[in-house]
Amino acid sequence: MSTDVRGTASLDDGEQPCARVESRYGCFLADGTEYCITDPNTPRPWVNVIANPRMGLAVSQTGSGFTWIDDAQLGVITRWQQDLAQDSSGKFLYVRDADSGELWSLSPAPVWAKYDRYACHHGLGYSTFVTEFGGIRAEWTLFCHASETVELWRVELENLSDRSRRLELCAYLEWCCGVAPSPRREFHKLFIETEFDARRGAIFARNHMWEVPTERYGHWNTDFPYVSVLACTEPVLSAQGDKAAFLGRYGALKSPGALQQDLWQPAFGRHEDAIAVLRSVVELRRGERRGLGYALAVGESHKGAERLLDGMLDVDVMDRALGEVRSSWRERLAAHRVDTPEPSLNFLTNDWLRYQAISGRIWGRCGYYQQSGAYGFRDQLQDSQVWLTIEPERCREQIRLHAEHQFADGSVYHWWHPLSEQGHVTRMTDDLLWLAFVAANYIRETGDLGILSDAVRFIDDERPQPLIEHVRRAFARVFERTSPRGLPHIGAGDWNDGLSAVGLQERGESIWLGHFLVGLLADWAEICRRVPGSGFRVRGIAECGLRNADCARGGTAVSAVDLNWEQLAIDFERRRQRLIAAINEHGWDGKWYLRATLDDGSKLGSAENRVGRVFLNAQTWAVLNNVAPADRAARCMAAVRENLVSDAGALLLAPAFDQPDPKIGYITRYAPGLRENGGVYTHAATWAIAAACKMRDHELVGRLLTAMNPALKDPDKYWAEPYVTPGNVDGPDSPHHGRGGWTWYTGSAAWLHRVVNEWVLGVRPEWDGLRIDPCFPPKWKHASMTRPYRGCMYDIHIERSNDLSEGVTADVTLDGAKLPTNVIPPPAEAGERHEVQVRCR
Ligand code: GLC
Repeated sequence: MSTDVRGTASLDDGEQPCARVESRYGCFLADGTEYCITDPNTPRPWVNVIANPRMGLAVSQTGSGFTWIDDAQLGVITRWQQDLAQDSSGKFLYVRDADSGELWSLSPAPVWAKYDRYACHHGLGYSTFVTEFGGIRAEWTLFCHASETVELWRVELENLSDRSRRLELCAYLEWCCGVAPSPRREFHKLFIETEFDARRGAIFARNHMWEVPTERYGHWNTDFPYVSVLACTEPVLSAQGDKAAFLGRYGALKSPGALQQDLWQPAFGRHEDAIAVLRSVVELRRGERRGLGYALAVGESHKGAERLLDGMLDVDVMDRALGEVRSSWRERLAAHRVDTPEPSLNFLTNDWLRYQAISGRIWGRCGYYQQSGAYGFRDQLQDSQVWLTIEPERCREQIRLHAEHQFADGSVYHWWHPLSEQGHVTRMTDDLLWLAFVAANYIRETGDLGILSDAVRFIDDERPQPLIEHVRRAFARVFERTSPRGLPHIGAGDWNDGLSAVGLQERGESIWLGHFLVGLLADWAEICRRVPGSGFRVRGIAECGLRNADCARGGTAVSAVDLNWEQLAIDFERRRQRLIAAINEHGWDGKWYLRATLDDGSKLGSAENRVGRVFLNAQTWAVLNNVAPADRAARCMAAVRENLVSDAGALLLAPAFDQPDPKIGYITRYAPGLRENGGVYTHAATWAIAAACKMRDHELVGRLLTAMNPALKDPDKYWAEPYVTPGNVDGPDSPHHGRGGWTWYTGSAAWLHRVVNEWVLGVRPEWDGLRIDPCFPPKWKHASMTRPYRGCMYDIHIERSNDLSEGVTADVTLDGAKLPTNVIPPPAEAGERHEVQVRCR
């Protein structure tokens, strides 16, 4: 099944592998922006998630995968079976030698031919399969147009054999045009209609029933709101719209009957099992090369789809579109770069982590392990922090979008689907606070208090209110949910979804949420203190288009112009002090912080527990948010070292739960060592690196950074892709300790990027400037960074030095002048370039 080609044997001339980050399945190419898989037999699918803001596709090294529009669950265009063991389902390109009858495909699946040569290049915005079989060299590149809702396939064929060849090319896909995964395929297929447009050589598909909007139109009583079409730049000689007719009775994708027997009885319309197959014939003389292309366009109507298609069905147009995609990613990521002694960390930090966060999480909202489509209230907000240094306006847009998914009482959806606006109401207690978290980070980075007056409606109240009011209501809601001991209730879970029953009766308390809140109170007290002197005035409700009288009727509505900022700051600060005291009084277990208390008052994350004794987040955030006094900070990080540091990264908790415990929640139902249940949960593990930096524990920083770097893993043990972060890696309580999974769809990408930049290289925006406070792994001697800051560019060169005076962690020179502290003040004028030299400990 797999080819014999291994290592770098199938790189093209001129393609340089990066020697240090090679594995037996592939390598990063020299500048790191492409990962080239040379053995398709990877332990798990190694995938690319390619998306523009509306349309996306996932494609693995086997060629399997699928396409969606607007929502990877409710707007699925082509069918796919989520089966990572087989990975043989998707959109394919067959080639058949019309003379010999030999059949292969331009990606390993579905034919699994024994290639003479194979490579799959996953790049930023595209994937290319390079194959050679029976003297035919092929390149198949899949990508999404940078802005239009079109997926394009560029194919190059070259005849390397010593005779002329007649090749039949068959594109194949199966229409879904609706919701997936669907447990009722046989029912849903009844509503799909296909149509063959012979003049264009195109197959159109629509679905007369979409199971999503239930209330507006009546149950199952509306169309899928898109029309899709597949077409080819070559003349189409045959087409097929029915799956069984193409495969033959009980046939298989590996060897479709129609291709074996040259049987074409086309069937389109409303009574078939909807697929699209387009067959063209290409003749190639000896040595001849030929380019062609396919387009899969999705429009709001038949006309719209046609229009998109007609503009794209041209090889030169497609090449230009591919060029635009590649340059759009290059430009997007160009302004902020790092250079560290670890090449693979540079590849991840400079390109892949942000690509993963933007393409996979923010735009596509999809991975092979999770076909989501929805916005997680806390998830995409955190992801949007990758925009802060490069396009902060996009982070602001994300903040506004999430604020719109808040109820007037301050609570929020846990997640919602953009296409249907269906949301999930839970008693999760932290979601709403991430709005305040990310908005504060936006202000810290940009210095722009203007966001506070962004006018946004609520889900259940269309009257727009300034963002500060959204934040204030979120706080108010959390304050209401305080235990008699002064700790926040945990409800149906906080950051950790699986702690889903800890506080269902509104008695259980969360120590981690306490830590989180302490940091937020500090931030917002600071923001409120800054507003009065800033000359900035929040536009009030009246200016948002409403009269104050209307607002007064709303009961809880407060005019932001009337906000007493000083008072608010004092209130936040007072609450922060009280909360720190309460946590240290009730949340300290003796050697580390508890994670939570259950409704019945029993402890979670305590030395008294047999399982779930120590939790990571309760320690790291105590350090990060200055909840722990110095001695406790040292002790709780020592507990992390002793109990949670594994060679795969920092575990979320230990020991893993080994029995379901309905009083705690579904985290206890995972097998031990999996995901949140005692695995390395990468998202949280990045915070451990930040906390280690704050404690100036260079050794731990180095250890964790290496442990979490997917490019440095042994793929036969680790299994997952080397170029993106995994959601989790199995912990020691799993027999597969060290195995990664849940790649792409994880908040860890954006966070690892942030932690490397702000903590390891230590270039961290603060209220009064850019703090430079690196904490390198022991082996690093230097690193550098280029990044924008408030309209200027900063070139920062950091050297490790042993001769700094007592108590100084970094000594900073700005444009040749030594600064009194390690904080670079905000630039006086925009548009300049500054040179920063740093000597650090
Ligand atoms: C999942 C959720 C995220 C949550 C995490 C930890 O990744 O999407 O919101 O914080 O799990 O439970």
